[in-house]
Amino acid sequence: MGTKILIIGACGQIGTELTQKLRTIYGNDNVIASDIRKLNTDVVNSGPFEVVNALDFNQIEHIIEKHHIDEVYLMAALLSATAEKNPAFAWDLNMNSLFHVLNLAKAKKIKKIFWPSSIAVFGPTTPKENTPQFTIIEPSTVYGISKQSGERWCEYYHNIFGVDVRSIRYPGLISWSTAPGGGTTDYAVDIYHKALSDGKYECFLSSETKMPMMYMDDAIRATIEIMQASDDEIKIRSSYNLAAMSFTPTEIAAEIKKHIPEFEITYNPDFRQKIADSWPASIDDKEAQKDWGWKHEFDLESMTVDMLEHLG
Ligand code: SER
Repeated sequence: MGTKILIIGACGQIGTELTQKLRTIYGNDNVIASDIRKLNTDVVNSGPFEVVNALDFNQIEHIIEKHHIDEVYLMAALLSATAEKNPAFAWDLNMNSLFHVLNLAKAKKIKKIFWPSSIAVFGPTTPKENTPQFTIIEPSTVYGISKQSGERWCEYYHNIFGVDVRSIRYPGLISWSTAPGGGTTDYAVDIYHKALSDGKYECFLSSETKMPMMYMDDAIRATIEIMQASDDEIKIRSSYNLAAMSFTPTEIAAEIKKHIPEFEITYNPDFRQKIADSWPASIDDKEAQKDWGWKHEFDLESMTVDMLEHLG
């Protein structure tokens, strides 16, 4: 029998593409997609699907036993902007879903976990450029606090109970095929859609707000590579820094203008500006490079070509 995988939050921004990729690698029937709702997506139609509430331990346990699951990718979460609007629920969802899965691994019902962290673990006191793996971590958002705490628990469950949990601090993720899920970096997806549909875009961040970003193809590859790495290659059991590119709204707009010369950007910062200002501008990911051979492929130029080609 091959590896059996459960993805919780399979209909979300990352989950959708991750499910499809894992199904091509492990076989459709070996990758069980799950989400709180049965949305009519490729994920639901291309293989097994279960309705699972990530906050319901018994439900997760039942699905794991029913499908003889070996590995869980826990992708359900409230992202930074949405979390600020509903802090109590964000804390509940982001933390307790993680505890459920960690406890199932502790009880030896599953063998391996992937759990996403984020650049949001960093805060205003963190060095902003080339943010190191090990540095000051004082997040100022609910989302960041939940990710920081989650990282500590992952490491704790690994050290104390031997749980094989692996994690990445994703930068802002950009994809043509899935919509972003309520984050502060979402502008970098919307801008491509609006450039093509309206020829203009009003950005909710200021022109010089530089943030770490990554094309979804790279993010999915990183996720699968860290999960397929051998146990002894994974030296960090909290979460790995991961980097690809960093740019400002001005810079992404200039790149789009190379393809759509009439494109115009305007700026109207909202509450998300404060979140963005608290995060790093660029990330140092040399630990991921050294430990499990991470290397990004896409930069701003190649990503823009690919985005516009697919969306156009
Ligand atoms: N893209 C995420 C957000 O903006 C960062 O993890 O919330």
